[in-house]
Amino acid sequence: NWTMSAYRQKMIEKIREQVGTGRVICGLSGGVDSSVAAVLIHEAIGDQLTCIYVDHGLMRLNESEQVVTMFRDQFNIPLVHVDAAKLFLGELEGQSDPETKRKIIGRLFIEVFEAEAKKLGGADFLAQGTLYPDVIESVSFTGGPSVTIKSHHNVGGLPERMNMKLVEPLRELFKDEVRALGRELGIPESFIGRHPFPGPGLAIRCPGGITPEKLDILRQADAIYLDEIRKSGQYDKIWQAFAVLLPVQTVGVMGDGRTYEFVCALRAVTSVDGMTADFYQFDMNFLGRTATRIINEVRGINRVVYDVTSKPPGTIEWE
Ligand code: XMP
Repeated sequence: NWTMSAYRQKMIEKIREQVGTGRVICGLSGGVDSSVAAVLIHEAIGDQLTCIYVDHGLMRLNESEQVVTMFRDQFNIPLVHVDAAKLFLGELEGQSDPETKRKIIGRLFIEVFEAEAKKLGGADFLAQGTLYPDVIESVSFTGGPSVTIKSHHNVGGLPERMNMKLVEPLRELFKDEVRALGRELGIPESFIGRHPFPGPGLAIRCPGGITPEKLDILRQADAIYLDEIRKSGQYDKIWQAFAVLLPVQTVGVMGDGRTYEFVCALRAVTSVDGMTADFYQFDMNFLGRTATRIINEVRGINRVVYDVTSKPPGTIEWE
């Protein structure tokens, strides 16, 4: 794509001009925006860039490894992988209120990021994958209502606290343009086309209290669900699809024994921007097949339900 390759060159020049010989750090989330920003900046200034990936232990199955491998091995970008799972899960222990959980995660994320930046000896610039819609509307996801529905977790508060100048090479772009730029930069299609994933990760897909055991069960169910969605060719038709592990146990029967295990809810929605959404109309055979696989393959789940709530009145995530 000619336009994107010209844009890529223009942005590389701009980044070089802005940064000079300065040092830049970039917080990676595993999402498309911060990834595209990091690859572009690395192309401009090479190892003057260091990425920090704060792993809160709330990512999906194998997700952190995939992110880290892609950046380190495929793109050769210096990357600090901070395994902060113990810290996050420790502070989340016994917390079941949705807003409390979100606030704990947001606070810890900033603390860990700052501490790592300090260890690196600081930097002159903080890189962010801010998009045009984020620039024109500060609340880009929940939007609209003046009441806080959910406190969103992002790194919005970081720049002021850390006294660094910002490098935001995606500020003029919309999401589809960021994807096109990512392809132009050689980021794999499987990564570019991924569904959005919330900053607080699986914590908000495990309503109520979180334990490592519950997260493990949720990860397995979620991986099976997404595998079935991909295999049936529906992934790109869906805005987001994920499993939720309910804090409810129900009675079941397996073989000749009684079971008493958790309920797993499956969610899938279509949407243009995440502000409103319709539940996705799966074929019942698909749902039945997926439920059977989850119950057979995941220990700890003996019942699967499908969420048929649209947004509004529901939100996409359960917390
Ligand atoms: P809700 O649940 O509010 O979600 O309908 C709308 C979209 O926002 C995502 N989401 C988040 N993204 N940090 C994020 O970066 C967050 O704290 C957060 N909470 C929800 C959600 O996955 C959906 O795409």
